[in-house]
Amino acid sequence: MQEKIKNKKINNNNNNTNKPIGIFDSGFGGLTVMSAINKALPLESLIYFGDTAHVPYGSKSKNTVIKYSKEITSFLMKHRVKLIVIACNTASAFALAVLQKTLNIPVIGVIEPGSRAAVNVSKNKKIGIIGTEGTINSKSYPHEINKISKSKVYQQACPLFVPLVEEGWSVGEITDSIVKKYLKSILNKQIDTLVLGCTHYPLLRKTLEKNVGENVKLIDSAKATAQEVKNTLKKIHLLADVKGEQFLKFYVSDNPDKFQEIGSRFFSKKISGVKKIEMIS
Ligand code: DGL
Repeated sequence: MQEKIKNKKINNNNNNTNKPIGIFDSGFGGLTVMSAINKALPLESLIYFGDTAHVPYGSKSKNTVIKYSKEITSFLMKHRVKLIVIACNTASAFALAVLQKTLNIPVIGVIEPGSRAAVNVSKNKKIGIIGTEGTINSKSYPHEINKISKSKVYQQACPLFVPLVEEGWSVGEITDSIVKKYLKSILNKQIDTLVLGCTHYPLLRKTLEKNVGENVKLIDSAKATAQEVKNTLKKIHLLADVKGEQFLKFYVSDNPDKFQEIGSRFFSKKISGVKKIEMIS
């Protein structure tokens, strides 16, 4: 009897620790976060949902983004995920608080880890933020950064960056001049740190680096978010511990073939077996 109970306990524990992590974004961008999580936590199974039917979120209202985020997380919950990562800045800005309140598992966004990384790097406490209109208008970054340390935060929405990246135009003359135009006023403020407050922007890193110069450090929240996931799972004793059982699954709400093709660029590994899920909203 004692032995049976002991075994049951061990099995339960294994079931929970080896449950997958759910990750979602409006489309491809969150794959940069998934890739960082996969590198930091190679034993973890990951389920990704890209809402390709509704992308972009960056120009949509708060209520609409919350509605989509709720539907996606209920899909992920059906897959018995142990933790959810909102791998999208806009959805983190609009839906994190609601999801944290309604779900009974940890929910992690990208804004808090990114803000912490920026504060750690900035010496002069003048920090620039670039992101979608939704993220910038929400003022989530200035709010988070100033909760950690009093800083001067300068923001700039860059709505053309997402379509440029999706088109594969991460470098080149046109991208260069658009980057210059968007960054002009923010660079005049003597910032020493620039947060890439959108999951697409790491793909523009080369062009951004060239334009900000070597005195400005670029912050990509993917690595910091992966570290936050690791710390959280460790704290609640849910880090995966079985080798060879992990899987990576990809779901989208539209166009799985396109996701497979473009997604591989974001994930920096070939993606296959993408399944389409019909959204209600
Ligand atoms: N993933 C979104 C973000 O990080 C960018 C793309 C979109 O606008 O949906 O804000």
